[in-house]
Amino acid sequence: MITRPRRNRKSAAIRSLVEETKVTTDDLILPLFLLEDPKGKVEVKSMPGIYRLGIDQMLKEIEECLSLGVKAFDIFPVVDESHKDKYATKSHDNSFFYQQALKKVKETFPEACVMTDVAMDPYSSDGHDGLVDKDGKILNDETLDILGKMALSQAESGADIIGPSDMMDGRVGYIRDVLDANGFTDVSIMSYTAKYASAFYGPFRDALDSAPKSGDKKTYQMNPANQREALIEADLDVQEGADFLMVKPALAYLDIIKLLKDSYDLPIAAYHVSGEYSMLIAAAQNGWLDKVPVMNEMLVSMKRAGADIILTYCAKEFAQLKKEGKL
Ligand code: PBG
Repeated sequence: MITRPRRNRKSAAIRSLVEETKVTTDDLILPLFLLEDPKGKVEVKSMPGIYRLGIDQMLKEIEECLSLGVKAFDIFPVVDESHKDKYATKSHDNSFFYQQALKKVKETFPEACVMTDVAMDPYSSDGHDGLVDKDGKILNDETLDILGKMALSQAESGADIIGPSDMMDGRVGYIRDVLDANGFTDVSIMSYTAKYASAFYGPFRDALDSAPKSGDKKTYQMNPANQREALIEADLDVQEGADFLMVKPALAYLDIIKLLKDSYDLPIAAYHVSGEYSMLIAAAQNGWLDKVPVMNEMLVSMKRAGADIILTYCAKEFAQLKKEGKL
C-alpha cells in the first residue's frame, strides 16, 4: 500500500495540522428572547438552558457573551397578547419595549452587532408573518408596507443587521429602498433566503407564543422537499441587495447550504434552529448522547457544508468551552 490515509490521523498533533474545518466564536450569532418585564427571567420549557430575558438580564447576558468573544446577537421580542393586533402595529412603534431595548443595548455596548427579525408573527393577533385577509389568505404586497415600517423602526433603534424572516416576495428590495430613502445605507440585510416550512421551529414558537392561530406557513415558507427553488430565492435576494444569504433550518438542510455556497459569493449563514437545539439537549438529558462533542459535530458540519456564519442557541456554551480549552 502506497497510500495509507491513517498516517495523517496517527496523533492529535497531526490531526490538528490536517484539520480542514474550524468553528470559532467569531462565526457565531446568539439568538436572544426579550421579555417586556425588565427584570424578567423565564426558562423556555422546550429549550432547557435558554431563557427569555428582560432588558436588565439581557444586558448582563450580552456583557458575559462579549467577554467570551460572542459579538453578535439576534434579538426577538416576546409580545403579550394585549399588544398584538391584525396589523402588527407595535412592530413599528419606536416607544415599544423592543425598540427601546435595542437602543439600550447599542448605547451600552456599541461594539456589539445587533440583528433584528422582520416578520409580523410576534406582533400579529393572527400569528402569521404576513397580513391575513378575511379568507385566511396571506397578502404579499400589503405586507411589504408593514415590513418596511418595521425595518425602519429597528434601524432607527440602532439595529446593525435587519433579518427579514417573513418570506414575502420582493421584501429584500422593498426594505433596502426604505432604509436607503431614510439615510440608513449602512444598515445591512441578512435575508432568510431559503427558509423552509419546518416543524423544527416548534420550540421557538413556544418561546415567543407566536404560533399561527389558524392554518400553517406553507404558502410562504418553502417546501422541505425542494432544493432548486432555493436558487430562485437566492437570485432574487442578490438582485435586491441582500448582504448575506441564510439557510434555515441548518442541520437537515446541509445540501442547501452547500448549494448556495457554491453558487454565490455573498457570505452564507445557517440558522441552527430551536428544534435542532432541543433534540440535542433532550437526548443529552436522557443520557443518550454526549452533549459537547455532538454539539461541536453539528456546528462543524454546518461550517463544512459552507456556512460562514452560524446562528445558534449554543453560541455562549460553545464560547465557554473554547475558553476552557474543552473544545
Ligand atoms: C419568525 C421566525 C421564526 C424563527 C425565526 N424567525 C419562526 C417561524 O417562522 O415560525 C424560527 C427560529 C427557531 O426555530 O429557532 N418568522
